[in-house]
Amino acid sequence: MHLLRPGEELGDLLAPYAEVDRRRPDRAWVMANMVGTLSGSASVGGKVGVLSEGPDARLFVDMRSLADVVLVGAETVRREGYGPVRLREELVEARRAQGRPDAPGVAVVSRSLELDWDRPVFAGAPEDRRTIVLTCESADPARLARAREVADVVVAGEQSVDPALAVAALTERGHRVVLCEGGPRWLGELVAHDCLDELCLTLAPVLGGDLLPVSIAPPDSPLRRFALRHAIAADDTLFLRYERPTDA
Ligand SMILES: NC(=O)c1ccc[n+]([C@@H]2O[C@H](COP(=O)([O-])OP(=O)(O)OC[C@H]3O[C@@H](n4cnc5c(N)ncnc54)[C@H](OP(=O)(O)O)[C@@H]3O)[C@@H](O)[C@H]2O)c1
Repeated sequence: MHLLRPGEELGDLLAPYAEVDRRRPDRAWVMANMVGTLSGSASVGGKVGVLSEGPDARLFVDMRSLADVVLVGAETVRREGYGPVRLREELVEARRAQGRPDAPGVAVVSRSLELDWDRPVFAGAPEDRRTIVLTCESADPARLARAREVADVVVAGEQSVDPALAVAALTERGHRVVLCEGGPRWLGELVAHDCLDELCLTLAPVLGGDLLPVSIAPPDSPLRRFALRHAIAADDTLFLRYERPTDA
């Protein structure tokens, strides 16, 4: 037990996240970046908006520089208006120096394929970084055909996308670090299938918000324990980083 006291000043909030070794031999490392209120709510009025301000808003964008692909559930894409990932120049240069593409691509998980294919996340994706759509065999064939026009479609499951198959498919495509940006339902499935290696959780200093916890486990899912790796305070906001212990 120890009391956390104000420690050394941190010039760059991304630095403690950037220095983590995310190699694993069997599959891509899966990290998630979420923000919640003090009561655990993940949205206000159906959007993240007001929960992610100042340093967290910047970290949300910069965190993407650590990933090979950004993985997100369809409802978040519908509500938050996703587009292709763009990073600030300094981070683009750092990636180039490591021989990586300028920015990660996006992968969207959907069973219904009720998505607007003209939106920037699909229609605006660069040709060499087409958005990936992870779906299942039960998907509507006409929608599947439409999805294939603007995205790379991966079928990873029968009635629903199997998180382990989804991660394996992303690994096969050469992705070593997958950054899940929610939403809570898709994140809960990853956790339930023990596919989440790391949770970066920002605690916004407010109470209230929607009845939507940061992660929604499917019924009867086991609890998953995580180990705290760092806690950073910026004014009243807490930035917590957890990892799934290797012996879990
Ligand atoms: N606080 C945060 O950090 C944060 C982050 C992200 C999102 N959010 C908020 O969370 C809300 C949206 O989250 P949500 O939990 O409702 O939705 P979500 O997880 O973003 O998306 C759920 C949808 O993903 C697809 N999906 C999930 N699991 C699937 C599976 N196993 N197989 C096939 N498809 C699957 C389905 O899409 P189809 O319906 O197309 O079949 C499902 O309806 C929004 O209000 C957003 O603002 C908050």
